[in-house]
Amino acid sequence: MDSRPIGFFDSGLGGLSILAAVRDLLPLESSVYFGDTARYPYGSKPQEDVAAFALQIASYLVEVYDVKMIVVACNTASAAALGILRSELTVPVVGVIEAGVRAASVVSGSSRVGLIATVGTVGSGAYQRSFSEVAPNVDLTCQACPGFVELVESGEAETESARVLARRLLEPILMAKVDTLLLGCTHYPFLARTIQDVMGRDVILVSSSEETAFEVRHMLEGNGLAAKDATKMPSEVFISSGDPATFGRLAASLLGRRIESVRQVETSELTRNFEKGWNGL
Ligand code: DGL
Repeated sequence: MDSRPIGFFDSGLGGLSILAAVRDLLPLESSVYFGDTARYPYGSKPQEDVAAFALQIASYLVEVYDVKMIVVACNTASAAALGILRSELTVPVVGVIEAGVRAASVVSGSSRVGLIATVGTVGSGAYQRSFSEVAPNVDLTCQACPGFVELVESGEAETESARVLARRLLEPILMAKVDTLLLGCTHYPFLARTIQDVMGRDVILVSSSEETAFEVRHMLEGNGLAAKDATKMPSEVFISSGDPATFGRLAASLLGRRIESVRQVETSELTRNFEKGWNGL
């Protein structure tokens, strides 16, 4: 039994879709969520930069918050940094890409699957590789959706401009006649209504959230790390590298519940401390 929190991070608010699924499945677990809103979007940045951000944040969570596990609640960071995080950190690290691939390949009847993600994730080839290993029979159509993350971060997920952009970006996926669409960015579940409207009712939208939560449970139990004390209230901490008030307002609206408080940790603090060297590494 281990009551230490699980650490989650994303470029901003998107990883809350993963946090929500983990909380539903594992209500006794405490959490620390880091949204790097000062440096989002990750999807248009070089892989090396995203990997450096991921290492800074994950090691900060290990060192300062003593997290027992890291959940990389971001596809772009999973594609860029999962390997290095696993080799450098002293705690187990869970990514979101394989979980999404497993979920989509179970759901698809025709094996024609669409994948939408950031430019960085699609360009990394991580999904293409994972599908060819896990579900080689799947006929995959990939499409990058620049601009989707910004819509969620500015609270505009269900606006007319979101629908216009979605219609344009999803056209190649519609043409490919997929029966399943994998949301390969943790921000996209918050755009699900808009995306579903464009794709029509016959296409099933799949995200990695639930499958990632099962993976977290499996890893916690396999490593003797699960929190088991039902008499203890789990704690919840939110951290943003950007404006904490904006983060708190948008996070509460996306999660549909109150957020007690949001702490701010500036990126200069992350980089300064990282350069000094964390014990977590
Ligand atoms: N939620 C991140 C992902 O899953 C978004 C990356 C971004 O900031 O562009 O890829």
